[in-house]
Amino acid sequence: MSEEIVLEVKGLRVRYGDFEAVKGVDFTLEKGGILGIVGESGSGKSTVARTLIGLQRKSSGDVHVNAKSMQMIFQDAVGSLNPRMTVRQTLGEVLKVKGIADATPESLLELVGLSTAVLDQYPRELSGGQCQRVSIARALACRPEVLIADEPVSALDVSVQARILNLIRELRSKLNLSILLIAHDLAVVKNVCDRICVMEKGVFVDSGTALDVFTNPKSDYTKRLISAVPDVDRALDERSGSLALKRSY
Ligand SMILES: Nc1ncnc2c1ncn2[C@@H]1O[C@H](COP(=O)(O)OP(=O)(O)OP(=O)(O)O)[C@@H](O)[C@H]1O
Ligand SMILES: [Mg+2]
Repeated sequence: MSEEIVLEVKGLRVRYGDFEAVKGVDFTLEKGGILGIVGESGSGKSTVARTLIGLQRKSSGDVHVNAKSMQMIFQDAVGSLNPRMTVRQTLGEVLKVKGIADATPESLLELVGLSTAVLDQYPRELSGGQCQRVSIARALACRPEVLIADEPVSALDVSVQARILNLIRELRSKLNLSILLIAHDLAVVKNVCDRICVMEKGVFVDSGTALDVFTNPKSDYTKRLISAVPDVDRALDERSGSLALKRSY
């Protein structure tokens, strides 16, 4: 496995009893790269993510990890935080178990653009975007080399989505992270990811650079996902007072 590759997956299959949720997928994540996995609900994206970090057993295939630490941000940011713990306690706990020497709750909050004013607040006192930032901060406590973000923005308003995606991009450069970004629509990944894999019913039906996938989609499924993207752009334009129909790929 090349030094430049942090994650290599070959022929990965995962079953839940008789049901095969992942039917043989292959991909590589390059050092410092952002790879997007996109697909509709139930296509198997979270199953792939959970298998990579060992929460789910694979039924066959190979997963090679060339990194000291890999962390995951879970799909439901609010639900993944303990409601009875303040931000300080949540970050303090993970720092005690696997934190690096010079990290503190304050330094983690600074990394994710949150004020220390939230340290003594509980998840229910925070907005969805703030909860997502806390869960990113928690994942960064052990300075992972690979970050898996499972639908980090799907529960957030469009304007908050953009800010969290920018944060993820900034963290990639600042911390030299390699990132696997999972989403259910192409609009989320198109400006963030270097490469994109499109997943349908347990298999990848398209993959390549973001430009390849947008300009030369191989499957009808990808074409359908692409045709949904201008609607998102139009919604954004309508919000900003412009009715221009923009196809921005
Ligand atoms: N623990 C489980 N036991 C049985 N079936 C499961 C389990 N977890 C997921 N599945 C099934 O496996 C398939 C893939 O689920 P998965 O959660 O990986 O999809 P997903 O692409 O992440 O969807 P979403 O966009 O809704 O998060 C679905 O049909 C789901 O019902
Ligand atoms: Mg999922």
